[in-house]
Amino acid sequence: MAKKTASFICQACGAVHSRWQGKCDACGAWNSIAEESPAAVALPAAHRSGRKGRPIELQSLAGSNESPPRTQTRIEEFDRVTGGGIVPGSVLLIGGDPGIGKSTLLIQVSATLARAGHRVIYVSGEEAVEQVRLRAERLGLANAPVELAAETNVEDIAATLSQGRTPVLVVIDSIQTMWTDSAESAPGTVTQVRSSAQILIRYAKQAGAAVILVGHVTKDGQIAGPRVVEHMVDAVLSFEGDGAHQFRILRAQKNRFGPTDEIGVFEMTGLGLSEVPNPSELFLSNRDRGAPGTAVYAGMEGTRPVLVEIQALVVPTSLGTPRRAVVGWDPSRLSMVLAVLEARCGIKLGGHDVHLNVAGGFRISEPAADLAVAAALVSSLSGAVLPGDNVYFGEISLTGAARPVPHGPARLKEAAKLGFARAVVPDAKAKERGGKERDGGAPPIPLDVIGSLADLVAGIAARGPRRATRAVEEA
Ligand code: TYD
Ligand code: MG
Repeated sequence: MAKKTASFICQACGAVHSRWQGKCDACGAWNSIAEESPAAVALPAAHRSGRKGRPIELQSLAGSNESPPRTQTRIEEFDRVTGGGIVPGSVLLIGGDPGIGKSTLLIQVSATLARAGHRVIYVSGEEAVEQVRLRAERLGLANAPVELAAETNVEDIAATLSQGRTPVLVVIDSIQTMWTDSAESAPGTVTQVRSSAQILIRYAKQAGAAVILVGHVTKDGQIAGPRVVEHMVDAVLSFEGDGAHQFRILRAQKNRFGPTDEIGVFEMTGLGLSEVPNPSELFLSNRDRGAPGTAVYAGMEGTRPVLVEIQALVVPTSLGTPRRAVVGWDPSRLSMVLAVLEARCGIKLGGHDVHLNVAGGFRISEPAADLAVAAALVSSLSGAVLPGDNVYFGEISLTGAARPVPHGPARLKEAAKLGFARAVVPDAKAKERGGKERDGGAPPIPLDVIGSLADLVAGIAARGPRRATRAVEEA
């Protein structure tokens, strides 16, 4: 039988320690660690009392399986990320930095649903009712029949919710401000956040109302984060963006009722968040076509292609260890591309600082950006301007080979739609022929098929800085 060991849990951040200590190493809080015996934590009361188990009925995998009914908000970018609308009885957590626009988004969602005749309750634990009203007025939503409350006690909220018609949507803004009588620690601590969330989740499941919890995430993860409730909710969405740019991205990180790779793109305007149905156009506006070091990458976000510009700056370094600065991409992936350039193409960047930026503050998670990154790097180093109407996508392997990536046709179609004339892609002959026979068509734009990273470098070098400038002058 496994040995029973007690665990010591920090009540402020949820970190588990093997022994008691005065200060939590994880969050720095003093005197926040309490002993919890594993039996008491893991087993429900019924099991502890020695009750004999009751056999449960087992079911087969096959069976009647209706897709869950959904309530569409008709804010399409939001519906796309949730997987087609809000599922009754589900609980969503929307996390994001303070000030990113979570309250704005949710008041818009609430108002849209309320206008469609659904009962919507918006509980703000952070702002007074007047403040919420003021915002709604600014957004032109003041006449929507949303029911408002400014409250932080979960028992009171649950009692309020169980009165009258079951709401379709309940927004709790934010979970960190909620507290329950059943836990003793201060609002915002792990125990309070967890117990409050539990009560609200139980309400959602019992009543069949959808609940959206708002959670603030600070960059350094200081406050007992909403992370501790991530495993309890049905979906976790993150709302991202940076202060310097107007657009915001809603991304699904976990979704029991839909895909997790979809994004919703919004733009923060004076009149709240407006949807951006074609993000590529937004990300590619203000392009600087005549400068070396930029390449357009045809990426995929879920089912949607997104074209973004990748900018690289390679300059001789004055430091002992050259700088590698990356915004919007994985730094270790950049190191890999640099290493392959050095080992397979003889391009030495050890004496150069490398700065890489995904334009517009977008964040790329796909390895398919390798080729575009390499093109931008080589272009910056050589001073050769890449043709402004080319797009790049493909993965680079450690051997220096260029590897095909999924969704090629969708990427090419989007590039063609946006007026690009040529795509530089890995040799996907075998795959493509198969694809072509099925689709029965040639690619929408001509392809520049390359087999390896060396081919790409040779192609860019052939352009040379002078030819490139002439090409720009002619254009
Ligand atoms: P908010 O929704 O309060 O953020 P959160 O709930 O995530 O903390 O949004 C705050 C920011 O949004 C604030 O800095 C101002 C800006 N904003 C606009 O630019 N336009 C608008 O119409 C609104 C309502 C807010
Ligand atoms: Mg807010």
